[in-house]
Amino acid sequence: MKISVFGLGYVGSIQIGCLARLGHTVIGLDANPAKTAQLGRGMAPVREPGLTELIAEGRAASRILVGHSPTEAILDSDMSLICVGTPALSDGRPDDRQLHTVIDQIANACQSKQDRHLIVVRSTTLPTTHDALLNRLRAAGLIPDTAVGYVVHPEFLREGNGVEDFFDPAFLLFGGATASDRRLLDQLYPGLEIPVYHVDRATASLTKYAGNLFHAVKVAFANEIASWSEALGADGRTVMELLIADHKLNLSAAYLSPGLPFGGSCLSKDLAAALQAGDGRGLALPLLAGTAQSNRLQIETLATRLILLPHDHLLLIGLAFKPNTDDLRDSPLVLLARRLLDGGKRLRIYAPEIVHEQLTGTNLAYAERWIPELPSLLTTDLANALSQCSAVLVGRPPTNVETKLIQSNRTIAYDLARVAEWPTTVGTHERGIVQDAPV
Ligand SMILES: NC(=O)c1ccc[n+]([C@@H]2O[C@H](COP(=O)([O-])OP(=O)(O)OC[C@H]3O[C@@H](n4cnc5c(N)ncnc54)[C@H](O)[C@@H]3O)[C@@H](O)[C@H]2O)c1
Repeated sequence: MKISVFGLGYVGSIQIGCLARLGHTVIGLDANPAKTAQLGRGMAPVREPGLTELIAEGRAASRILVGHSPTEAILDSDMSLICVGTPALSDGRPDDRQLHTVIDQIANACQSKQDRHLIVVRSTTLPTTHDALLNRLRAAGLIPDTAVGYVVHPEFLREGNGVEDFFDPAFLLFGGATASDRRLLDQLYPGLEIPVYHVDRATASLTKYAGNLFHAVKVAFANEIASWSEALGADGRTVMELLIADHKLNLSAAYLSPGLPFGGSCLSKDLAAALQAGDGRGLALPLLAGTAQSNRLQIETLATRLILLPHDHLLLIGLAFKPNTDDLRDSPLVLLARRLLDGGKRLRIYAPEIVHEQLTGTNLAYAERWIPELPSLLTTDLANALSQCSAVLVGRPPTNVETKLIQSNRTIAYDLARVAEWPTTVGTHERGIVQDAPV
């Protein structure tokens, strides 16, 4: 395949060397003539282990060409990889001017191109920018997905490890590829066995951000924990080493599914203790403090949105802080129930795992503190409660029997616990609440 690559920075230069190694003919372009001159001399425009050899090899085999005219390069290639920079503006927004320039160049060249051109954006930017770039193409008379392909293909490589990451990424992610785009994209990485995911453009773009944000949070977390451990007399490095040795709960998918805020007898209490101990030693822990704040905000936001829904009679399924327990302490569902009642909703609670007469100690005290009227709200007759409510709030994964009853009752259900097994055909995601419309 013949591919034009716009931008010879870290991402673009690595694409050029690696795609040439995979057998493609690549045309490299950059707004900075010093970079194209370097490429012309068979040198890597950036320093990356292994890249110099790849570029020299590609130049010698005439698989790496230097582009001097964007129009010629676009007319002469099947697809363009856009790898230009998206630095931050002073207010945090990505500066997308380099992207706009390249899109205009492509739009201009495509006016006289017979074959459909595929635009593949490897630069990192937000969905709003992609929308703006798609509008630019439309304004130039090029209907995306028809006259041109436009695919968001985030790059996940790390500088310093870029060549290795290019050939062995965790997965390849494409957003917005049509069937004909996919046929071309299938030829982009010949011989590499890499999982491929196709999603919409916004999901692809935000998955890239989510990854980087997660990395940033991990670094900040490790540093806060290490400082906090040291302030309390432990070895921070060892604490972190032991933390990451647990692949069951700590380095795993556990606790990474969006759903209800955390609760229970441990997380909130231990977070409060850690913050208090840090505070007592003059140690600011903004990430951990923000975590407690974020959790409270999740409950508040959820409650506010549910109160605004046009359903007066609500049935809440579940009440404990997680499935398979009757532990109500610090349960987000208890706080949610309180907020819904205070917000004027009529509420029934179906949670057969909670038997009020059997609640004791701090569990009972917590229930009585927040929902003194609990005994009158609890019901064990799901079918009857469903027939009387105007909407169901699913606060924990329902059993098969419960699911059948909920779905056969044809009541609108809001899946607060994000029960992934529910058929997607009956659910539409609306601001984080899955609204399960009647089938
Ligand atoms: N650096 C990384 O590790 C990395 C990893 C993944 C994704 N990304 C993303 O990839 C994009 C590129 O990152 P980078 O680090 O390679 O950027 P960079 O700033 O190193 O390189 C961008 C290049 O684009 C060139 N350019 C600007 N306008 C141009 C135009 N109109 N035509 C041709 N070339 C033009 C610049 O001269 C520059 O050489 C960014 O959006 C970045 O967020 C970077």
